[in-house]
Amino acid sequence: MEVAKRVRITVLSDNFTSTIIPPLIGEWGFSAFIEADGVGVLYDVGNSGLPVVHNAEALGIDLRRDVDYVILSHGHSDHTGGLANQKLREALRGKVVIAHPNVSEKKFLSWRGRLDYIGIPLNKEEMEREFRLVLTREPLEFAKGVMFAGEVKSYGFPRYTKGLLKSSSEGVEQDDLLDDVPLYVNTPKGLVIITGCGHSGILNIIRHAKEVTGVEKVYAVLGGFHLLSSPSEHVDEVMKVLEGEADVIGPAHCSGFRARLTRKFIDAGVGSVIDIA
Ligand SMILES: [Fe+2]
Ligand SMILES: [Fe+2]
Repeated sequence: MEVAKRVRITVLSDNFTSTIIPPLIGEWGFSAFIEADGVGVLYDVGNSGLPVVHNAEALGIDLRRDVDYVILSHGHSDHTGGLANQKLREALRGKVVIAHPNVSEKKFLSWRGRLDYIGIPLNKEEMEREFRLVLTREPLEFAKGVMFAGEVKSYGFPRYTKGLLKSSSEGVEQDDLLDDVPLYVNTPKGLVIITGCGHSGILNIIRHAKEVTGVEKVYAVLGGFHLLSSPSEHVDEVMKVLEGEADVIGPAHCSGFRARLTRKFIDAGVGSVIDIA
């Protein structure tokens, strides 16, 4: 895999905001803008799209001009809901959107005795009309040093899919979230792994990243690790392995509070800018 020599990651949407100036907006969801040697990648579009639109403008990112590729980490609405935001949709119209084919499945959350729709707001036909849609299960190095991971295999580590369902011929069934796809960026410091919800399991993701990129050194892991409802012992166990793998760790979004206690913590809240060269 090639190396992107200058990489900047700016978090545009997260459950936390990390700046006083400029004033930015957070929400339950995730979105990050990645610049890799001049190529602009928007990884996820958040829940409502409001933070992405507002924060990008406040941070001097012109989405229409600066975004070359949009990656959808998976179908859940806290990562794809922004596509229903008119302003954001217009800014992204005609761009290449890359995702796993299962991204357009009808997905539900079973919570507190209710079943809520939490799928992508546009169907496949609408997506094809508005964007240059690329659906693939395979790893795809779509820009120099930047790889859409493709389907993450399981290497014996847990996946996190509890309470998550999808439509089936008989109603709903357990969703295995095969559409959960991270982004791998090969930088001079090593791999930077960015996750949306991390449903595939962050430890499976690390193994997969090394396997498909051929790069052993992991510099950073950031995004959602979906450890928010795991027992403390499990979170500690996972974070200990992660600490042995990466130089810096930015647990964001659905990682849960305990994951943020890592000694390798870096802030990946809204407005955080991570420069790697
Ligand atoms: Fe999420
Ligand atoms: Fe999710």
